[in-house]
Amino acid sequence: MTAPRFSPDDLKALLSGKDDDWLFRESDRVRRAVFGNEVYIRGIIEFTNHCRQNCLYCGLRRENRQVTRYRLSRGEIFQAVETAVLNNIPTIVLQGGEDPYFAAEWIAELIAEIKTRYGVAITLSLGERNQSVLKRWRAAGADRYLLRIETWNKANYRLLRPQRIWETRRRCLEMLRELDYEVGSGIMVGLPGENLESLVTAIEHLSALNLDMIGVGPFIAHPQTPLRDQPNGEMQLSLRTLALLRIMNPFANMPATSAMECTERGARRKALEIGMNVLMPSLTPERVKNLYNIYPGKNAGWDDTEHSIEAARTMLEDAGLQWSTAKGISPNYLKRIPKYNHTQIEV
Ligand code: 5AD
Ligand code: SF4
Repeated sequence: MTAPRFSPDDLKALLSGKDDDWLFRESDRVRRAVFGNEVYIRGIIEFTNHCRQNCLYCGLRRENRQVTRYRLSRGEIFQAVETAVLNNIPTIVLQGGEDPYFAAEWIAELIAEIKTRYGVAITLSLGERNQSVLKRWRAAGADRYLLRIETWNKANYRLLRPQRIWETRRRCLEMLRELDYEVGSGIMVGLPGENLESLVTAIEHLSALNLDMIGVGPFIAHPQTPLRDQPNGEMQLSLRTLALLRIMNPFANMPATSAMECTERGARRKALEIGMNVLMPSLTPERVKNLYNIYPGKNAGWDDTEHSIEAARTMLEDAGLQWSTAKGISPNYLKRIPKYNHTQIEV
């Protein structure tokens, strides 16, 4: 399957709602052609909400003194992994703010032990790190890495992520690829300072990266951040962005993100119906779940159980989709890494 090429004008027209019927039917068709009705499940363990960064959009930014900060113990992390295994979830995502408390070597040992004890696929979402750390974690057994680039507007990036440089993040994605991680990135839709043109640019560039995973959700204004008065990203625009990215990246794993659900009830299911093929229920323990407050409503939502495993099962059933028990390696990755004997890999 070769992905179609859209001109910038085509993209702009489709993002403006020129032909939603076609767009959403096509994105669903592409997903079904590659993944059937199977949805891959990733259990996400948010093990620290401390962060040394100060991103203007994020509730966990270091200057937000209203957050109750937490760290999971090693035992709690293992318990969450066991919950994944017991529930037929073969991938876990270790996510956290950039928290210097956890030494790189401690995390490496955690990865190695999870891998040998449980054999699950391990995705990391731990921010920008240097090459030697990324290399160490890969050697310890980490399989995948998520690092959203957030925007292609470099000046805006500098404003929204003080003291951070867009090119460094871009280089980090390159390093991850060189280290043979499955690489994921993505953007937020409707960030302050962005418009349809910058979204078109981001969609084109994101697709050119030939990513294994693409995560996109709307910006949601957090009341404890400097962006509190900014409008949220629009749900319909986010859905169109997701649909276009799906059509342009047939083989990428793409989650229906919880940020979708936070802007509108039922939006995550809608995202599944228009071509997303991954769900990421949270396995973070109840005692701290609501403190991982990147944006309001994260892990809380419309009712307490919304982001739970049970909710994920029910949603898939309702949508006529299947809970896959496969690790769900991206077909892009399998093509890229010649050392694999494809017949032995569960896709
Ligand atoms: N609204 C939506 N998404 C956000 N993220 C951070 N803050 C917000 C927000 N206010 C996203 C970023 C980050 C990911 C972990 O969460 O894209 O990479
Ligand atoms: Fe930290 Fe990530 Fe939030 Fe930025 S988006 S403040 S790096 S947790």
